[in-house]
Amino acid sequence: MKKLLQLTAATLFAVTFNANAEDGSAIFAKECAKCHGADGKGQTTMGKKLKCKDLTVEAAKIGEAKIEAAMKDGVKEGDKVVMKAFKDLSEADVKAVAKHVLTLK
Ligand code: HEC
Repeated sequence: MKKLLQLTAATLFAVTFNANAEDGSAIFAKECAKCHGADGKGQTTMGKKLKCKDLTVEAAKIGEAKIEAAMKDGVKEGDKVVMKAFKDLSEADVKAVAKHVLTLK
């Protein structure tokens, strides 16, 4: 019985984790790709105009916490907001997208 419970917990965890990973890439495609590009390189019209960094190179240096902060608080250059905060994303969404960003490299 104990073994079965452990197995169930492990399966549930795997399923949840995969669902999150999927959501992360879906949200990125919907909310972020128009600037950062689906591949994260920022080679879109908007990305070039706004001088988006290549997230495939920079994400690891920026780190998970700051990637999450970028979505929650937005990104400013001086006084200018260059990326607005994504207030509609839940905490779980933010974490899933940050994880996705870190896989872009
Ligand atoms: C309107 C265009 C735009 C959209 C949409 C956008 N960003 Fe950005 N983002 C920028 C710009 C401009 C910067 C500042 C330049 C840079 O750091 O690349 C930036 C910076 C960042 C950074 C770097 C922050 C730092 O501390 O250096 C991360 C991470 C990031 N964005 C993630 C995201 C994610 C995830 C989404 C989707 C939820 C998103 N962005 C949507 C334009 C955008």
